[in-house]
Amino acid sequence: MPAPQYSNPIILDALETVFAKAENGASCSCTHTGIGAIALLFETVLRANSKILVEKDCYGGTYRLLQVYKDKYNVEVFFADFTDLSEIQNLLETEKFDLVLCESPTNPGMKIIDLRELARLAKNNGSKFAVDNSLATFASQKPLDLGADFSVFSATKYISGHGSTVAGALVSKSEEDGEKVAYFANAEGRSQNPFDVFLISLGIPTLPLRLKHHEQSAIQIADYLEKHPKVNKLVYPGSKNHPQHELAKSQMKIFPGVLTVHMQNVETAEKLVATTHWFGEKASFGTADSRIEIPAKISHASFSKEDLQAIGIFPSTVRLSIGLEHIDDLLEDLENALK
Ligand SMILES: Cc1ncc(COP(=O)(O)O)c(C=O)c1O
Repeated sequence: MPAPQYSNPIILDALETVFAKAENGASCSCTHTGIGAIALLFETVLRANSKILVEKDCYGGTYRLLQVYKDKYNVEVFFADFTDLSEIQNLLETEKFDLVLCESPTNPGMKIIDLRELARLAKNNGSKFAVDNSLATFASQKPLDLGADFSVFSATKYISGHGSTVAGALVSKSEEDGEKVAYFANAEGRSQNPFDVFLISLGIPTLPLRLKHHEQSAIQIADYLEKHPKVNKLVYPGSKNHPQHELAKSQMKIFPGVLTVHMQNVETAEKLVATTHWFGEKASFGTADSRIEIPAKISHASFSKEDLQAIGIFPSTVRLSIGLEHIDDLLEDLENALK
């Protein structure tokens, strides 16, 4: 495969080098969006009639893209619960996959996947293993160090951090995979443009500091919401009550600022979204401003009703992205909205 003929040595190559180093990978290709990076991963690894195993709790855009590959290229998509390691082991013993893909933490269910174990199982199967690192980011978690072949992420979120641009990246552990990725990035014109690369680069120096702040506020808000009578259940990996809290600590240095809240009923969920002052109703997360949404209505609207129920996400489920505003303002806002 010939090396790519086009590049932008001053700024695009520089950002790709930073991302590759930050993820401890051999190389990186930056794309226009996070979902563009996932499409680039699929283009690189999948072919007609391929089999892919995907954690069923995944971003709505990934789910939608998988439907495209299913319909157009006859790719067989297997959805499974990756926290059930015996189910995964059985599947990997009976089917041969080209790609195993998961997020950790998952969006919107906030499950934690044992990435070391998944990497081992995928390797035994002869499959490539890719992790969507959008929620954790490389400042907190390094999937390639845990055994993955690819780390793919949306830089639209915590990395850019200010909601000023959209971008994605696909980092390969091996040079060989990296060359294949670069070939498709070039052939399909997926590379990010210099101005957006510049905008993304502005977020990088403050990423660890911002993440720490998001985490500290999210822990306090989780603590408040967990005890609230109008909340049925709160799912946050940074909470000691999360079933995989210890696993999360062993894979991530900083917990993200995203919380999934199962409200008492749909009415309470909708009222919360409509009434908060500091939380804007938006599909994305990971920005300086706080955000709120009902995944069933916005970020995961492409899911079938059955598949959404299968991952435990209902019209009464709310996703909060805790921003960098003062914690007292956020707590007061939630308290007023829940009155
Ligand atoms: C886990 C995850 N991966 C990928 C994406 C896609 O990112 P982008 O919006 O940059 O296309 C999203 C978007 O919400 C996401 O939540």
